[in-house]
Formats: sequence, structure tokens, C-alpha cells
Amino acid sequence: MTDSQTFRLMYRSRDRISPDERKLALGALFTKARSNNKALGVTGALLVDGDQFVQTLEGDEPEVRMLFDRIKADPRHDSVELISTEMVPERVFARWSMARVGHDGEPDIALIAHTDGISPASSRGGTPGQVGVLDAMRRAAVRADEQVS
Ligand SMILES: Cc1cc2nc3c(=O)[nH]c(=O)nc-3n(C[C@H](O)[C@H](O)[C@H](O)COP(=O)(O)O)c2cc1C
Repeated sequence: MTDSQTFRLMYRSRDRISPDERKLALGALFTKARSNNKALGVTGALLVDGDQFVQTLEGDEPEVRMLFDRIKADPRHDSVELISTEMVPERVFARWSMARVGHDGEPDIALIAHTDGISPASSRGGTPGQVGVLDAMRRAAVRADEQVS
């Protein structure tokens, strides 16, 4: 699509998947998210950090809002908190129907830098736009950690 504006939504939530099911359940979640998002023209990244999720969704506003409403109702997480919504000139995760991001290393993102031939903008890799959004996602996860009493 050649639309000049993209809607970007970021939220955080708490993972409710039991530790013994986690690996398999997250694998299934990413597979489903990637195929659905491809059909919706939605791209983004999901940070999985301890029991925190922070997700960024990018696309046309109606699709992103509809998807967020569906995700909010998912029993695999709770305490869903909207962090930001904004119109942005372009997608930062254009190649990713849903990139998986860890707190420290993120092989998904490093791969983008590699295939594009772009030198990493920081030690974390990725384009400058990605690095900015990923930093905001990590800050959101850290703040959520601090709220735990
Ligand atoms: C943290 C989290 C992130 C999710 N992200 C997505 C997503 O990006 N796209 C998606 O389609 N579903 C996502 N889901 C799953 C949805 O809540 C829902 O189960 C799924 O969209 C239903 O798809 P279906 O109607 O095709 O079965 C996510 C769920 C969780 C808990």
C-alpha cells in the first residue's frame, strides 16, 4: 500500500500462560498472529520479557483497532494497558507481520539490518526507526516491572 500515514498502537500486558506451557503456547501465538496480520496488512513486534508483553501494531487504523480489541479479550494475558497511539509517516516493522523481541538480544531485528545491508544503528541492531520504537517498548516493560510490589 502507498498510504502516507500509518497508525501505530503500543500496549503492555501481563502474561498469564503457565510456565510449563509457555514455550509451545508462545510459538502457536506467533504463528497465528503472523498469518492473521499478513491478511490484515498489519505489521509489528511483540516483546516478551519475564511475565510482561509489550506489543506494537502498525497498519490502517480500523484494522489495528479491531485487532487490538480482539487481543485485549485474550485470556492468555491480562492487565492490558494502552501506552500510545499515533499517526506516523511509515512502518518501522514493514517486513514483519510480527517480530519476536527479547529483552536483550533480538535475532529477528538483527536479521533485518543484515538483509537490508544497513549497518546497525546501535549495538542492538535494526534501523534507527526500529531502535527508537524498540527502546520505547523496553522502557514500557521496565516501568511495568517497577510497579510490581
Ligand atoms: C500478547 C498477545 C499478542 C497477540 N498478538 C496478535 C496479533 O498480532 N495478531 C493476531 O491476529 N492475534 C494476536 N493475538 C491472538 C489474538 O488474541 C486472538 O487469539 C487471535 O487473533 C484469534 O485469531 P483467530 O480468530 O484467527 O483464531 C495475540 C494474543 C496475545 C495474548
